[in-house]
Amino acid sequence: MTTWTPASMPDQTGKTAIVTGANSGIGLPTALELARHGAHVVVAARDPEKGGEAVARILREVPGAQVEYGRLDLADLDSVRRFAEGVDKVDLLVNNAGISMVPRRETKDGFELQFGTNHLGHFALTGLLLPLLAARPGARVVTVSSDAHSVGRIDFDNLDLERGYGRMSAYGRSKLANLLFTLELQRRATKAGIDLKSMATHPGMTATRIVKLGPFQPLLGVFLQSAEAGAVPSLYAATSPDVRGGEYFGPKAKVLEPSQAARSESTAARLWDVSSELTGVRFEKFANL
Ligand SMILES: NC(=O)c1ccc[n+]([C@@H]2O[C@H](COP(=O)([O-])OP(=O)(O)OC[C@H]3O[C@@H](n4cnc5c(N)ncnc54)[C@H](OP(=O)(O)O)[C@@H]3O)[C@@H](O)[C@H]2O)c1
Repeated sequence: MTTWTPASMPDQTGKTAIVTGANSGIGLPTALELARHGAHVVVAARDPEKGGEAVARILREVPGAQVEYGRLDLADLDSVRRFAEGVDKVDLLVNNAGISMVPRRETKDGFELQFGTNHLGHFALTGLLLPLLAARPGARVVTVSSDAHSVGRIDFDNLDLERGYGRMSAYGRSKLANLLFTLELQRRATKAGIDLKSMATHPGMTATRIVKLGPFQPLLGVFLQSAEAGAVPSLYAATSPDVRGGEYFGPKAKVLEPSQAARSESTAARLWDVSSELTGVRFEKFANL
């Protein structure tokens, strides 16, 4: 099988794509390639200056691209709500932004920061945008998880990790939540008869800022791939006609198997209800399931 590259991407003209964390790392080439293939792209980022620089960079590489900045801080539910209120159309949502292995801190709403940003922020964003996604047949939600999900464990009695915080285990937990969310979103969309595909990705070890600042820093320049290569699974999941909802893609767009914990339907359903409770986002389209 030949390796998929963005050159094989079908034309995206007429589609609106939102990419979170599109100002740097894997998110930037994700946004850039979607724009290159005709999508209207929203660079969703928390820092207006960095977001503006990313828009300018995309316009330099793709003159005439339809690209705009939207302010989104996933660690602040008010910001997530304001961002969602400003959206009027969306076909592709790429839940890419993330933080990794930071010391224990909290989001503005008091959630442990990695879980709050990587999972709860994206859970809320997806729920608030669901009516718009459901209005666009063939809509897709791609959530960037990680191989690190396999070290994660969800302890519903210690969601704030006030006891036993570990930077890696907290990251792994947030990435496990990304996968549980992806698969549960697909199940709920299918049951509700909504034409939506939900996929997850693991980009592979990529030379981006979260790696440069984290414990894998010594690996830099040894065997880390480029951000462009790290964007391939997201771009494939977002655009390939061959994708099925619920799939999990890794480097070179190969299908991966989520861990046993990530495939637990009971954990996923419970996490969904807890996330809904914590964020106040109800996913009304799924209300009667
Ligand atoms: N790099 C790897 O090897 C690797 C491996 C597996 C999975 N991943 C996943 O890939 C995704 C992208 O990460 P990356 O490697 O590209 O790292 P990165 O270069 O550090 O990019 C992370 C992005 O997330 C944004 N972000 C962080 N907190 C945010 C918040 N509260 N609100 C909005 N945006 C926020 C950052 O914005 P600022 O610039 O404002 O901080 C940045 O744009 C993450 O989900 C990560 O977990 C990466």
